[in-house]
Amino acid sequence: MNRNQNDPTDQASKANLSRRTLLKRLLGVGVLGWLGTILYPVAKYLVPPPVGEANVTSMKIGSADEVWTEPFKIIQFGRKPVIVLKDHQGNYRALSALCTHLACIVQYRQEENFIWCACHNGRFDLAGKVISGPPPAPLEIYDVNITDGGEIWVSQRQV
Ligand code: FES
Repeated sequence: MNRNQNDPTDQASKANLSRRTLLKRLLGVGVLGWLGTILYPVAKYLVPPPVGEANVTSMKIGSADEVWTEPFKIIQFGRKPVIVLKDHQGNYRALSALCTHLACIVQYRQEENFIWCACHNGRFDLAGKVISGPPPAPLEIYDVNITDGGEIWVSQRQV
């Protein structure tokens, strides 16, 4: 069968086909745009922005003249929590406040004189060594210095 190129029904059919193709492509672009407007904010929400770690090596936490009403303080040392306490001899000590088992925040049990993790009853001595419980490693130690002016400074221990 030989098709006539001047056949008006054939030309109408081709125009219909190209219009349909154009509409399908426009619809596809619209759907992709719509998906992009939904997925992009969700992806931006789920993926945290790259934030460099604050490079803190030393920080002032207060004055030795301050009266501590609590047996210990948890301070934010850069992005790490640090527990600062005053032991029975009146010395300040600072250790990582993150339990080495599952990273719960520890606390100082002043009466018993040890550092305690309430999550799984992990216990550390004031030098950070594990006394009992599941923690696999000691707590990181920080240096505490008191200036002549009575300021208390916590510093990362140099290895
Ligand atoms: S998280 Fe501290 S003992 Fe388990």
